[in-house]
Parts: sequence; C-alpha cells; structure tokens
Amino acid sequence: MVERPLKLAVLASGRGSNFQSILDAVNRGDLHLDVVLCLSDREEAGALERAHRHGVQTKVILQQSFDSEADYAAAMLRALEEHGVNFIALAGFMRKIPKGITAAYNGRMVNIHPALLPAFGGRGMYGRRVHEAVIEYGAHWTGATVHVVEEDYDTGPIVLQEPVPVLPNDTADDVAVRVLEVEHRIYPAALRLFAEDRIRFVGRRAVIEEYQDS
Ligand code: GRF
Repeated sequence: MVERPLKLAVLASGRGSNFQSILDAVNRGDLHLDVVLCLSDREEAGALERAHRHGVQTKVILQQSFDSEADYAAAMLRALEEHGVNFIALAGFMRKIPKGITAAYNGRMVNIHPALLPAFGGRGMYGRRVHEAVIEYGAHWTGATVHVVEEDYDTGPIVLQEPVPVLPNDTADDVAVRVLEVEHRIYPAALRLFAEDRIRFVGRRAVIEEYQDS
C-alpha cells in the first residue's frame, strides 16, 4: 500500500509546461499530492525555474558524469529516496529511465506522450517529430496519452487518452498546440486517479474505479 498523500517527483528535461499544469492543479486544490522533487538531466531546463518559483526542491543529475548505467541509476534512486518519493511523473524527460528505477517504481511511474499510443510512439518519437510523423502519415486524429512506464519506450498500460483532430492544412506546430492543451488537462486528471487510489490493473488494462458512496 502506497502512503497518501503521494510524494511525487516530476522528471523533466525541457520547458516544463506539463509540470506547470501539475503544480497549478495542486495549487487550485484539484490534485491532492505533495510535489517533493523536480529532477532534471539539464541545468538549463525551464522546469527547474518553475520548481524554484513554487518552492519545489530540485536536483540535476547528468548522465554523462557516470561511468555506467548502474551508477547513474543508483544516483537517481538515491535522490528519489532522499526525498521520500513514492510516485514519479515523467514530463518531457528525454532520457531512457534506467532499469533499476523502472523496477523500483513498477506501476508507480507515468509518462505523457503527445499522440494516441501505440501509434506514433517508440524510440526517436518525441517532440515535434511526433506531430510531423502524424501529418506525413495523413492521420485524421492524434491526441495525448498518459501511460504507466515500463522498460521499453512508450509501452505500458494506458491510464487516460484523448483524441485531437488533425485538420487538412495543419502544420506540426498547429497540431502541437492543440495536443498540448489536452496534455495539460489529462495529466493532472490521470495523477488525480492515482492520488485517490482509483486505478486497478486487470491484465494490461488500467481500470478506473468509480467513487464509492459511503
Ligand atoms: C510534451 O509534449 C510531452 O507530451 C512530451 O514532452 C513534451 C514536454 O513538454 N513527453 P513540456 O516540457 O511539458 O512543456
């Protein structure tokens, strides 16, 4: 049984707009968990600034300063444990999560992907490239997916996903804007389901439990 309120770490490499949507949901009172750490692999990540503004502790761990993946994983795990983290949200974290971490946080780590998985996911499918691939394929729909993190890229049970239309003259940027708006809504909503302990796994399907009348 994981302790509530959840102690969340957000891992981010970039501007951190999804991280911001989580902070905003917490501050509005829509999401009851403690954001205890923002962990990044880049000193210049905008997410770190957002963390400072909101009084969230930060840590930068550069993979290149470690000789092996095992040492890198150990440093990450130490940082997570030092902050009492019991749940992780990846929000534009650009590195593969070491095996040691996926094992330690099995079922307690989620990611947001800017497409409808399993389409347009996997190695090398990130950022603008995803939306370019969607347009090039001629897909009429894309969207956003929150999923549990497993060892492979973009696999793992789907928690929430929402479709977004791709219009005839859309550029990748047009699609990105439309998808991001949905991301900012469904990521806090998905975290809320975990915060309220309303997610059960039935095989590979994440099932949302309804509220119980009591
Ligand atoms: C988002 O599009 C998310 O789906 C992907 O990386 C991007 C991060 O954007 N995983 P931001 O840093 O949260 O603004």
